[in-house]
Amino acid sequence: MPATLDLDPDQLLSTTRAVRKRLDLSRPVSMDLVRECIELAFQAPTGSNAQGWHFVVVSDAGKRAALASLYEKAWSGYAAMPQSAANVHGDDPTMAQTQERVMASAEYLAHHLAKVPVHVIPCVAGRVEAIPAVIAQASTYGSILPAVWSFMLAARARGLGTCWTTLHLMHEQEAAEVLGIPFDEVTQVALIPVAHTIGTEFKPGPRKPLDGMLHLEGW
Ligand SMILES: Cc1cc2nc3c(=O)[nH]c(=O)nc-3n(C[C@H](O)[C@H](O)[C@H](O)COP(=O)(O)O)c2cc1C
Repeated sequence: MPATLDLDPDQLLSTTRAVRKRLDLSRPVSMDLVRECIELAFQAPTGSNAQGWHFVVVSDAGKRAALASLYEKAWSGYAAMPQSAANVHGDDPTMAQTQERVMASAEYLAHHLAKVPVHVIPCVAGRVEAIPAVIAQASTYGSILPAVWSFMLAARARGLGTCWTTLHLMHEQEAAEVLGIPFDEVTQVALIPVAHTIGTEFKPGPRKPLDGMLHLEGW
């Protein structure tokens, strides 16, 4: 068994954060450790047990630099978008400080991604935008995203930090060319930077209360 941190299941679930500034950019990550996390990720559910998941693991410095440059290009337009962390929760002043922290942390990652020792790009078979029915769209994303989160939990348990990112998907086709991914047959769903964390203590994140979000017996 690999060495894992002393975290019970609730601690693992409540302290797996979006790690950006606390990624240790100077410490290499062993491929064996990444493989272990992916093996655990493959225990996630998939629709019809299709198991159409693929994880592209990139440690090559030139490829990481190419992905980081696509990511930084996407970042440059992100702050002004209505969906950006700077603009969501605009109606809730209690979230302002948190969102400022998210933006500062995200900006740091955008400028340091090339130095993160491993990039993991989870993919799923098929082109999601070509799927007409909502059930099939939900089933396709639902057949890869749980595995991605399992990967991130397994990484946290091993002292690795990760951050769910999607910005590079603005330039998905160019990223597919960098990595030789068959773009017409496979959809990339995220880019997960992976590094050892600086320190292993993380706290639960600030979240909205259940009131207004939890609907008992109906909306
Ligand atoms: C679908 C999705 C897309 C995301 N895209 C990005 C991204 O492109 N870049 C980034 O830095 N963080 C991204 N995040 C991370 C979120 O900012 C983060 O999960 C959120 O701020 C909560 O962080 P916390 O768990 O540390 O509190 C994304 C998260 C999700 C679930």
